[in-house]
Amino acid sequence: EEQRFRASVAALDESVPVPHRTQNRQAPPVPAPEEFTNTPDTDPALPQNREWGRRILERVPTSKLGVTAVHTHTLSSETEVDAVLAAAAEAGRAWGALSGAERARILDRVGDVLEARRADLLEVMAAEGGKTLDQSDPEVSEAIDFARYYAERARELDTLEARFVPSRLTVVAPPWNFPVAIPAGCTLGALASGSAVVLKPATLTARCGSVLAEALWDAGVPREVLHLVHMGERSLGSRLVADERVDRVVLTGSYETAESFRSLRPGLRLLAETSGKNAIVVTPSADPDLAVRDVVQSAFGHAGQKCSAASLVILVGSVATSRRFRDQLVDAVRSLPVGPAHDPRTRMGPLIEPAKGKLLEALTTLEPGESWLVRPRRLDDEGRLWTPGVRTGVRRGSRTHRIEFFGPVLGVMTARDLDEAIALQNEVEYGLTAGLHSLDPDEIGHWLDRVQAGNLYVNRGITGAIVRRQPFGGWKKSSVGAGFKAGGPNYLFGFGSWEGAALDE
Ligand code: SER
Repeated sequence: EEQRFRASVAALDESVPVPHRTQNRQAPPVPAPEEFTNTPDTDPALPQNREWGRRILERVPTSKLGVTAVHTHTLSSETEVDAVLAAAAEAGRAWGALSGAERARILDRVGDVLEARRADLLEVMAAEGGKTLDQSDPEVSEAIDFARYYAERARELDTLEARFVPSRLTVVAPPWNFPVAIPAGCTLGALASGSAVVLKPATLTARCGSVLAEALWDAGVPREVLHLVHMGERSLGSRLVADERVDRVVLTGSYETAESFRSLRPGLRLLAETSGKNAIVVTPSADPDLAVRDVVQSAFGHAGQKCSAASLVILVGSVATSRRFRDQLVDAVRSLPVGPAHDPRTRMGPLIEPAKGKLLEALTTLEPGESWLVRPRRLDDEGRLWTPGVRTGVRRGSRTHRIEFFGPVLGVMTARDLDEAIALQNEVEYGLTAGLHSLDPDEIGHWLDRVQAGNLYVNRGITGAIVRRQPFGGWKKSSVGAGFKAGGPNYLFGFGSWEGAALDE
């Protein structure tokens, strides 16, 4: 039966052009040199696709409201890890000696296998990560894009005049919030460059990592070139990062973890994407309907558990005093259906773990001058399911202004003019994503020239970077050592050096 539904979706894909995912309204200023077609998401407007999604969600265990543990895995022993590192370092030599085109052929197949296993990936992301289909489906598309785009970049390596020498062994340590796209991107980037990989999935989403690794092996990535190990976050440092056989570590996690790795092994080549505290500015020239939609999507998609999420909206001039804008924002936030990921009606799913620490504080306690525009409510005993919250009256320099909460809380700030809004954006230590809603070309140019963040989005949400179109990477404390943006033309170059040159050392 499953086959039939997948077949009907595939058949439909051939006859009805499936629209691409929402693209940035802003065209790139110059045409990119290489052609690349992004993988389309499953279009939920088609009833057949909704039925297909419903069937996937039916398979998700429903014993709890929120995330359900569906998998146990054995932690790799000390001896196993040692054997893995020895084997991977050895295999990296032969893998790196293949031509880029030979590796690219395998990566192209990875793209096909991931597409064929889209349903399995969505199921495990819902079960383990609490991801709703509107969040997880684009994630699979992104993983496929990484495979196909990095395959192209691997072919390009063969044509370069300087000789690129890949690392032998890269450790990939992804986060739980994008349990497929991020491990896929980092692993495939390293593999495409010619490095062997030891992948250590986040413990909370270890099963997603296993399903992904299986897909890569089945597509032809040799088992000795890609290894999967399971261990707690603490052992990652002492057992993998500290090992001299490891040339590079690709981390997506907190700034503090990145710093701790650096002090553990000075001289380590670390490519780390770290935290963010991202704001969307709305000026009086903006289309308020679009602005509200994009703010809500960016703040509460995957319950705000994204480094790219909007945790602040800065209202400029008359927008700050506009009753209509606030009412619209409140309505949009209040009307978001909150529930478990396996319920197709859910728009905002659960937190992966019960809210604690700074997030619990942000959901429950106001700072001086603040009030609730929308007060969050806890819906379950455990503290995983919360309705979204909006704090207003957020003061410059407050915790709400500066600290990443990593959850469904949005702070509203106001600014007299665009320059003050830019100052508020730039005053945070991080610089990952930033957004502007404005229909005034002068304002847009002024903002683009001044705002300090790796990914700038105009009249669009600020999450969901798209391979090749919007390579992803941060500034300031949002990045530690990560030179080239993920999904961009130079990403592979971060995984090696140039013969005869010390370009990246
Ligand atoms: N690439 C993701 C995004 O753009 C974050 O990791 O939302």
